[in-house]
Amino acid sequence: MADKVVLAYSGGLDTSVAIRWLKEKYKLDVIALNVDVGNERDSSAIRQKALDIGAVKALVEDAKELFVNYFIFPALQADALYEGQYPLATALARPLMAKLLVDAAIKEGASVVAHGCTGKGNDQVRFEVGITALAPSLKIIAPAREWGMTREETIKYAQKHNIPIPITVSSPYSIDENLWGRSVECGVLEDPWVEPPADVFTWTKSPADAPDKPGYVEIGFEQGIPVSLDGKKMKGVGLIQRLNQLAGEHGVGRIDLVENRLVGIKSREIYEASAAVVLLQAHQALEAMTLSKDQLRFKQKVAIEYADLIYNGLWFSSLHQDLAAYVKSTQRYVTGTVRLKLFKGGCRVVGRKSPKSLYSYGLATYDKGDQFDQSASPGFIHIWGLPVRTQAQAQGISDLEEKKGKGK
Ligand code: ARG
Repeated sequence: MADKVVLAYSGGLDTSVAIRWLKEKYKLDVIALNVDVGNERDSSAIRQKALDIGAVKALVEDAKELFVNYFIFPALQADALYEGQYPLATALARPLMAKLLVDAAIKEGASVVAHGCTGKGNDQVRFEVGITALAPSLKIIAPAREWGMTREETIKYAQKHNIPIPITVSSPYSIDENLWGRSVECGVLEDPWVEPPADVFTWTKSPADAPDKPGYVEIGFEQGIPVSLDGKKMKGVGLIQRLNQLAGEHGVGRIDLVENRLVGIKSREIYEASAAVVLLQAHQALEAMTLSKDQLRFKQKVAIEYADLIYNGLWFSSLHQDLAAYVKSTQRYVTGTVRLKLFKGGCRVVGRKSPKSLYSYGLATYDKGDQFDQSASPGFIHIWGLPVRTQAQAQGISDLEEKKGKGK
């Protein structure tokens, strides 16, 4: 009996060719596993396709809820944005897929797992660091990294073996999609000077074509988790799907980024992440109301670390567990509602309220009812400025001295 391999199967060209290639090259029985993280494809067609190509079994796993509750929302609570812009859609899905691959391999008695990543990207790292952390004895094969075929050769291979070539192959782009965003690279996008052509975008309207009237949306949060949209309670998956539509209509969520890959390359990627952009802004606005200045400052540093470690494939590290525990603790009072205005590609917070707000009208107001004791300020300033005065008297202010010197 042949050994079994569980292959992470997307239904695309590479993983379809991989089914045949794994059989031919390694004499393995291929079990295809399609993980649905909200990429809105036809799961039963994907299943049938895997079987037609020669998989001995095809599994489809609806992982949308897992993805939202255990990956997306914790990352939202952390305010995780890689290099300040990328909400990490692709990066967050990989450790979940790694876990489901490992589970399937154990259940099916397979000694090998496989994925469709090339040898140049981050995703191979995320898959393999995850898989080896969870099940070090599993063997990993990455056909697309090994077979050395160009795109044309892969297409020829598919034609030769009657493997249906997906229509998406005519697209010049490499695309990865899930609930938290859509990542697009390759083709003309590889020239960072070239403006992304219209056909790159499928989630978002061009801001020029977006409605001339702004849209408003209200997000309710409980302990940092979005729980309602426009006053209606919603589960995570539905809320994100709805918000992707709403904000996409207004052209919100386009990101054009030259980013640093873990493998040392700079790459240009276009993202569409409508719900992510709105929710991250809303969440930060609510934190600004409910966390102290010191909490906010410290949490910003954690957000950078957190985003980096997700991007770099370290989901299953202890550092991640530690940071996640910290983040969770910070969210105790991040409860309330944020109102945003969506207009022609832009998204702005225009209102926020919270039962646990630290914003005090009495302290902030310049009108009647001011509770702030202004007579205490001179003493405060006297002590606050003490080290500055002391140093300036003893050592001068070098910048000023220099400028004076030059003026002479
Ligand atoms: N650059 C993103 C990341 O490393 C997305 C990678 C997948 N992109 C793609 N177009 N297939 O997370």
